[in-house]
Amino acid sequence: MKARVFSGMQPTGNLHIGNYLGALRNWVKLQHDYECIFCIVDLHAITVYQPPAELREKIRQVAGLYLAAGIDPKITALTVQSSVPQHAELGWLLTCVTPLGWLERMTQFKAKAEAAETIGDGLLQYPVLMAADVLLYNAAVVPVGDDQRQHMELTRDIAERFNSLYGETFVVPQTSLPMVGARVMGLDDPTKKMSKSTAGSGHAIGLLDKPEEARKKIMRATTDSNPAVDFETMGPGVQNLLGIFQAFTDWSQDEMHRHFTGMRYGDLKKQVAEAVLAGLAPIQQRYAELMQDPGYLESILQEGRDRVTPTAAGIVKTVKERMGLYTIAP
Ligand code: TRP
Repeated sequence: MKARVFSGMQPTGNLHIGNYLGALRNWVKLQHDYECIFCIVDLHAITVYQPPAELREKIRQVAGLYLAAGIDPKITALTVQSSVPQHAELGWLLTCVTPLGWLERMTQFKAKAEAAETIGDGLLQYPVLMAADVLLYNAAVVPVGDDQRQHMELTRDIAERFNSLYGETFVVPQTSLPMVGARVMGLDDPTKKMSKSTAGSGHAIGLLDKPEEARKKIMRATTDSNPAVDFETMGPGVQNLLGIFQAFTDWSQDEMHRHFTGMRYGDLKKQVAEAVLAGLAPIQQRYAELMQDPGYLESILQEGRDRVTPTAAGIVKTVKERMGLYTIAP
């Protein structure tokens, strides 16, 4: 039997090439070696207020982009978190075995709490719900970026604590696979990871950006004061552009050196833009085709929900029994 993989993405902001190269593209490859569940985590999104109509539209958009990028619904379950009520249910059950101190220590919570005037309880509980997402399916492997590592450690701690209190119940998941994906930085500020939520028109290249828009952003990207590409002394902006090119073309390090050494930045950027546009074109084309038939997307999300529900329901049933909750015959 194949090991199970679970991962999720929030339906907020606009998916960009960093999400594609760092996560989505790896997920597409994982599908063949693992039994995968990829989830649109809308319950996580609402830990911060989202305009309802916009959120609903984003969920469809992210689902469409997953499919357009190559997630194959015949072998992989594509789900919307809130459509499987057991996520929220297990979230509560796990909340009750999680010490408050563990949650208050989370660096992402601390950063968000500092930035906001008032913070919802959901922001504190966020990592418990994430633990529930993973443990609900006894996922063995959870591919996530570095920023989610602490949450995954917490997931393991919660699973171990539950197992020691109530008996072996959960598989303690591996943090992630070694990430082969590129870490894409902001075009305007190459010291910061490309982010869905960073405002500013020159920061990220959206997967649905028009070719001209994407090209313009690349041509304006921050470089450094060298006159041309020098692999020894280049700054983070040039390194980022080369990284993006390499990720889209799969060129070797040797080829990169031979081709780009001494190239002026204007030419470098033109070539990066060509590589990005060539990579995005088939995704955008499939996306446009998919979205012409709203019923198709809906049916994929129904199938995903129906496929994972028996597993989720089975685990919640076991957890409730172990915890001593009363079971009334259906
Ligand atoms: N918190 C993750 C992020 O913002 C998204 C997420 C929610 C997730 N639940 C998950 C990722 C479970 C992996 C597994 O990136």
